[in-house]
Amino acid sequence: MGTMRLGNNSMIKVIEGKMYLDGIPASVVLERISPPACILFTRKLRQNCESFKNVVAGTLHDAEIHYSAKTNYSKEVLEIVHQSGLMVQVVSPRELRKVLEAGFPPGSIMVDGLYRQQGFLERAASLHVASIVTPWVDELQRLDRIARETGNQVGKMQVGLRFMTPSPQGRIGINATDRAAMDRLVETLTRCDHLQVSMVACHPGSQVHDPDTHGRTCSYLLDAMDCLEARGIQCRGATINLGGGFPEPEIATREWLTRVMGEISRVLMERHEKGTRAPTCFEPGRYIVSDAGAIMSRIQRLFHDRQGNRWALLDVGMDVISRFSNSHHRYFSVEHAGEPHGTPLSFQGRVPTAQDVLRKGAHFSKAAIAGEHVLILNCGAYSWTFSRRFSFEFPQRIIIDGDAMRAGETPDK
Ligand SMILES: Cc1ncc(COP(=O)(O)O)c(C=O)c1O
Repeated sequence: MGTMRLGNNSMIKVIEGKMYLDGIPASVVLERISPPACILFTRKLRQNCESFKNVVAGTLHDAEIHYSAKTNYSKEVLEIVHQSGLMVQVVSPRELRKVLEAGFPPGSIMVDGLYRQQGFLERAASLHVASIVTPWVDELQRLDRIARETGNQVGKMQVGLRFMTPSPQGRIGINATDRAAMDRLVETLTRCDHLQVSMVACHPGSQVHDPDTHGRTCSYLLDAMDCLEARGIQCRGATINLGGGFPEPEIATREWLTRVMGEISRVLMERHEKGTRAPTCFEPGRYIVSDAGAIMSRIQRLFHDRQGNRWALLDVGMDVISRFSNSHHRYFSVEHAGEPHGTPLSFQGRVPTAQDVLRKGAHFSKAAIAGEHVLILNCGAYSWTFSRRFSFEFPQRIIIDGDAMRAGETPDK
């Protein structure tokens, strides 16, 4: 029978037909918990932080990595990301509080997002966070006022400008290809004496598979910088923030990431006077945490729909796994781990609505039975942070680190 990995994840192995969760047999984990449970594999999280850092450091001279906290802001995730030397990006007061509690110093925090209340921006300004990034031109005046009122002792407030993705789906941010929008930006910045543009940013989308996309985004941001410089807005030394959008490590392999960074480096060499020494920044979320998270659930019952398709009702649903996560969830039988997973089975979540379809026609083991445990992979990103809370209790969280296991923090309601 031998050893095989499930879902290409080094944490999930089947050895002689038995499933292992990192160093612990799944049967032992099941003796100690009562599913459903959210599992965090800390060794995988550390590996992902290291591999992203190493590829970036091997290609670009001066790059910062700000983990996108909205992806998963549990205490344990934030602490490990911080210990791994990454910086962080937050989009809400709760995320700001959690990252400060996890030990991130204000100088490593980037404040971003679409909706920011006055109090949040004032708090960020008074903490002197590394930068506040805005996608809205009219918000610059608000930031200028806050900078003046908070009397920033360390000089002007460092602001980032978020530009609209150049793809046809672009919607949020400043449209760098629209002359009128750029006119408005220049006019506004000219009147904002307390702001310094220290970053130009563009997030190219989610699960971006084309390795040249970040290079094109870099070129687009350099065009925007040239346009601003030509019109008297100083931003030449600004950090080029290329956002997130990296797929799960199963797809974003070391070779793939090296190609992405190589393409950015090539664009910088060709287009920027400082070449590869230009400061860059990334905001990965999914890549860092997606495959470090799994959910242990249980089949409550099996049933058939009118067309005769087989369904399993699980003890988790869209109250735990967000329907919008855009993750490659994979379903594996714990009790039949060593058997082929080629039989279609659809999964109904526990929230009583026809909407709660976790997956139609997943490939599962033929022998699926009620009471069987199902391990769902790639649940670390955009799961509980983006899910809707129904009236059920939220599952317990457990942390697995090698052959050690402990309870994790229960998420805030
Ligand atoms: C501005 C911004 N930065 C970073 C991210 C993280 O993206 P990902 O998880 O795809 O790496 C997102 C996700 O939506 C985003 O909107």
